Amino acid sequence: MMRRAIIGGTGVYGIKGPSVSQKVSTPFGEVTVDIVTSEGTEIVFLPRHGKDHSVPPHLINYRANMAALKQLEVTYVYATGAVGSCNTSYAPGDVVLLTDFLDFTKMRISTFHDGKTGVKHTDMSDPYCSNLRRLLMEKAGQAGIPFAGEAVYVCTEGPRFETAAEIKMYQAMSGDVVGMTNVPEVVLAKELGMCYAAAGIITNWCTGIKKEAIAMHDIKASMDKNRQNLTGLFLAVLTGKLDQNHCSCASAVMEL
Ligand code: HPA
Repeated sequence: MMRRAIIGGTGVYGIKGPSVSQKVSTPFGEVTVDIVTSEGTEIVFLPRHGKDHSVPPHLINYRANMAALKQLEVTYVYATGAVGSCNTSYAPGDVVLLTDFLDFTKMRISTFHDGKTGVKHTDMSDPYCSNLRRLLMEKAGQAGIPFAGEAVYVCTEGPRFETAAEIKMYQAMSGDVVGMTNVPEVVLAKELGMCYAAAGIITNWCTGIKKEAIAMHDIKASMDKNRQNLTGLFLAVLTGKLDQNHCSCASAVMEL
């Protein structure tokens, strides 16, 4: 069975439908997910920061989360993440589709490959599954829900926000939005042969882009606006027919 999952970031703590909670024990720790039934399809819902949003970005057990999805036989994953924008074309309240990332994390275990089973490298030419992205854009078009565009995601270690000088550097390096959680999540998904795509919900301008400091009330307002639309779109794709014939996700891991 190839199951489907949604990973909810900040502000996205559940999806509509009858659900049962399930604990999954992995070699990296225990994870609690909801199994939600939507249109007759079982969807695994995983709140990235824990059920009560208690785990900060730099302390999330990314390997446990992704290993739990694998144990539940999940192959297709959509995720959300709150991001700041450092591209003036994308404003707070917009939603963007992630296409690539720049990794500025520092202290995270970013791989399942610990050398015990040979030397493995994972292809990152299509980090966010192009097939899941295409299907999502099709559904968004049909539903009249606009994505502001595509974005390169900069992942910082957090939990602090960035300095103005760091944001200038990220802009110069082609970054569009900045968050603290998508790496290593997207990488671990690929190591497990999953199709994974993610949307960034823009909650604020990054440090130094506008005169004012980052405002937390901005974050709540854009979350409320986008949560339902986005999870509805995810479900529209995840309750349909999916395969791995149109992407390279199943064969991204290479052994030298
Ligand atoms: N920087 C990093 N992570 C974030 C931001 C930001 O400005 N906004 C929401 N998550």
